Amino acid sequence: MAKTNTFTCSSCAASFSKWSGRCESCGEWNSIVEETPLSAGPSKKSLGTKRGTTLDLTSLSTQETPPPRTQSGLRELDRVLGGGLVPASAILVGGDPGIGKSTLLLQAAAKFALAGVKTMYVTGEESSAQVRMRAQRLGLTDAPVQLAADTNLRNILTTMETEKPGLVIIDSIQTMWADNVESAPGSVSQVRATAHELTNFAKRKGVSVILVGHVTKEGQIAGPRVIEHMVDTVLYFEGERGHQFRILRAVKNRFGPADEIGVFEMTGSGLAEVLNPSALFLSERGEPSPGSVVFAGIEGTRPVLVELQALVAPSPHSQPRRAVVGWDGSRLAMILAVLEARCGIPFAGLDVYLNVAGGMKISEPAADLAVAAALLSAREDAALPANTVVFGEISLSGALRPTPQTENRLKEAQKLGFTAAIVPKGGKSVTAGTMTLTRATDLTGFVGEVFGAG
Ligand code: TYD
Ligand code: MG
Repeated sequence: MAKTNTFTCSSCAASFSKWSGRCESCGEWNSIVEETPLSAGPSKKSLGTKRGTTLDLTSLSTQETPPPRTQSGLRELDRVLGGGLVPASAILVGGDPGIGKSTLLLQAAAKFALAGVKTMYVTGEESSAQVRMRAQRLGLTDAPVQLAADTNLRNILTTMETEKPGLVIIDSIQTMWADNVESAPGSVSQVRATAHELTNFAKRKGVSVILVGHVTKEGQIAGPRVIEHMVDTVLYFEGERGHQFRILRAVKNRFGPADEIGVFEMTGSGLAEVLNPSALFLSERGEPSPGSVVFAGIEGTRPVLVELQALVAPSPHSQPRRAVVGWDGSRLAMILAVLEARCGIPFAGLDVYLNVAGGMKISEPAADLAVAAALLSAREDAALPANTVVFGEISLSGALRPTPQTENRLKEAQKLGFTAAIVPKGGKSVTAGTMTLTRATDLTGFVGEVFGAG
């Protein structure tokens, strides 16, 4: 049969027999690229009758010791990794270009090198001189990091073979190319092939590898998503360009909890750890104003307080606007629908804007009640007391559901000087310390308690 080219989505790696403008699998636009099939790929012939060797079968009860870990000393990074770097693990660090991935990893390289891990930093994006200049700016020139600038995978693997490092950082996977694959660096086949070789090498030789991957919204360069399943840990480095806060988020971790976050601040001399993110996220809060509500959330194992800001205004458009930054747009639509259907508070004809302050992104359902409070506060033009935090999940019936880790949230709020909390009724009884709790069973009750109407 003649070889035909296939078309692969660079965002989700689904393959198709013909090109289309939008990926049917993940819905991404302009992400489908043409791929030449590998000439040296696995043959389609059956395995035949030649016998293989018998596998070593073990029982589930075989005792395993937890993997030893090396701490970098960058506590925010160690936490996100699940307590430190696991030997022979493969880690992907994804993020928008310019967000600070190279800066973070150069700092991490220096820390791991100083902690006794033989560390190699391979850059395919910059020259060695540029990296050295950055190291100077960051004050890292004393760290025993081995630096190389190359993009040829074969050379990199050979160097790894002879140097036997404990950690190799590849910045970035999109610039690397394997000479047995006939497509340009950054294409889906190249990214997949080079990541596969590197992670395989990591497993076989006990080396940890950290792969940097750019995510582009246009999907022109193969998104790191095509290699997410190959690696043990996937971290995303997020932040808003205009803000100095950067969040390193574990979205997958075979060696630790997912959803853990590390918070950094981009300064003139590199990334600084933020050990108390709540204080930072609330630092820009001014006088209590309508539409502003503090949500006591949980990120991974840590409570984090963030400010939600809502703006509700009469709409000049026939289709009122709904815009969200840092939260899920369909969840906002749901809260608006519940407010309208269960509490009789309409938002028709009103533009609604919701923003999570500080460039933070939240995905917890526990933010529902805080969002509802922000929307109502903006709509009624009535500020909530400045000393109050809000959290709770809202169901479609308008009932409020208790959230996990209530005590941790309250403790964090108390630590930051808050004195009252509005939370759902029910669930386990909690010790609230000195916090005054207002508890509601449903959204109507909540509206009555807080805004004196219902
Ligand atoms: P970089 O690490 O190159 O981003 P990425 O590798 O994700 O593309 O960081 C780019 C930005 O960070 C750049 O706009 C300058 C800024 N920056 C600082 O603000 N302070 C610093 O100390 C450094 C090294 C960079
Ligand atoms: Mg970079």
